[in-house]
Amino acid sequence: MTPAPGSPVETRDAIVEQDLGNVVHPIVPHKALEQQQLVIVGAKDSTIVDANGREYLDAMAGLWCVNIGYGRTELATVAAEQMQALAYYPHTAMNVPAAGLAERINGLLGGDNHVYFVNSGSEANEAGFKFARQYMKHEHPGEVRYKTISRYFAYHGTTLGTLAAGGMGERKTKFEPLVGNDFVHVAPPYCYRCPFGLTYPSCDVACVKNIETTILGEGPESVAEVLVEPIMSGVGVAVPPDEYLPEVASLCKKYGLLLHVDEVINGFGRTGKMFGHEHWGVTPDIITIAKGISSAYLPIAATVIKNHVFRSFYGDPAANRQVQQVNTYGGHPAAAAVALRNIEILVEEGLAERAADTGRYLLDGLRTLLRHPAVGDVRGKGLLVGVELVKDRAAKAPISAPQAQSLVDFCRENGVIVGRSVAGREYSNTIVLAPPLVLTRSESDRIVEVLDRGIARLGGQLAETA
Ligand SMILES: Cc1ncc(COP(=O)(O)O)c(C=O)c1O
Repeated sequence: MTPAPGSPVETRDAIVEQDLGNVVHPIVPHKALEQQQLVIVGAKDSTIVDANGREYLDAMAGLWCVNIGYGRTELATVAAEQMQALAYYPHTAMNVPAAGLAERINGLLGGDNHVYFVNSGSEANEAGFKFARQYMKHEHPGEVRYKTISRYFAYHGTTLGTLAAGGMGERKTKFEPLVGNDFVHVAPPYCYRCPFGLTYPSCDVACVKNIETTILGEGPESVAEVLVEPIMSGVGVAVPPDEYLPEVASLCKKYGLLLHVDEVINGFGRTGKMFGHEHWGVTPDIITIAKGISSAYLPIAATVIKNHVFRSFYGDPAANRQVQQVNTYGGHPAAAAVALRNIEILVEEGLAERAADTGRYLLDGLRTLLRHPAVGDVRGKGLLVGVELVKDRAAKAPISAPQAQSLVDFCRENGVIVGRSVAGREYSNTIVLAPPLVLTRSESDRIVEVLDRGIARLGGQLAETA
């Protein structure tokens, strides 16, 4: 692929120097960046290209987000046209693309919602916590219902509140102590490593019982909401048993709590349906969306609330019931226009259905890797997939984070970008895949082929150190 015109190929070394001397990069060790010196200058469909002109198949769609694939120049036109008409005005007033986008999202989610726009998945979840708390203040005057119940090993964002809601110890420790007892954690539905040592279905979905025990232990009158990601991505793609989400939804009803579903990764076709929770037929009260909403062409995210929640924020100015939140860029006209066109592309091209189909094909291919003793489990839905690696299949002893990282590095060196789970020191042993939904079958074969070689090599290394 030819790098985009005006790309910095000629000046790659100067860019590296400029970057390393000036930029603070997120999460990645700077020493590793000094070695990799990966400068991305262009991309098309599922392929990214670096400043040396080298191509990689991006099986992570960036950070699980470029759902429609790279290089859709029509979105640049949409953004430019909108910026010429109206580049910005705060969302305390109305604007054309944000109203259209809200209506489109509402329609996709059953037509009984209102949409609050923010700028990132973290902010969407923060807004969700605040909606839940303010709703409880309005609906239960005199009571203090504020806690969020969420799961260990979950990831819900990078702000202090969303970090506290998340359950990834390693991501939190450098910032602790975090907020008080606002976020209470329960065991995740991670069946391959059931936290209760049980096996589905004889487990009787003990992970849901654990949530009820927690609600009762905390006191239901102190809890505002239960927060779940339909398929937990960060832990290495944990698909829950079919009873899980419906039973969690029933618990929320039973105790008068709001069900807050994080669709930041699951949403917009990733799991083979437009939204992850549709697999289990539940109706959440709060839904948080980001990433695939615009396929990351521009930053935008949203917190969707059911109308019964929205009505709590509706009233005469004197009643002071309005949403007590504001952010400068929410409902940004250019981002909204781009997101709206992105959603039209997802629908017109049937990309959720395509993800279901290619996902089945990819999973079939990956299951052939179970012939390697180091592959403990292969799981997923649509194009959200995990391959869990172990030193010993019977004992399920996880490979170490550096071993998993060396496999990620091997894949990159062989032209395929994959990710790995980050669920603390213990469980960073799952290779995760979330490619653009336009992935082809031959690209899917390539992912399997490179992983096959990488896992064979890893198996050799494990045998040497055993
Ligand atoms: C499930 C989930 N929720 C929330 C977030 C936070 O989104 P953002 O990085 O846009 O703040 C992420 C980010 O990866 C995520 O995976």
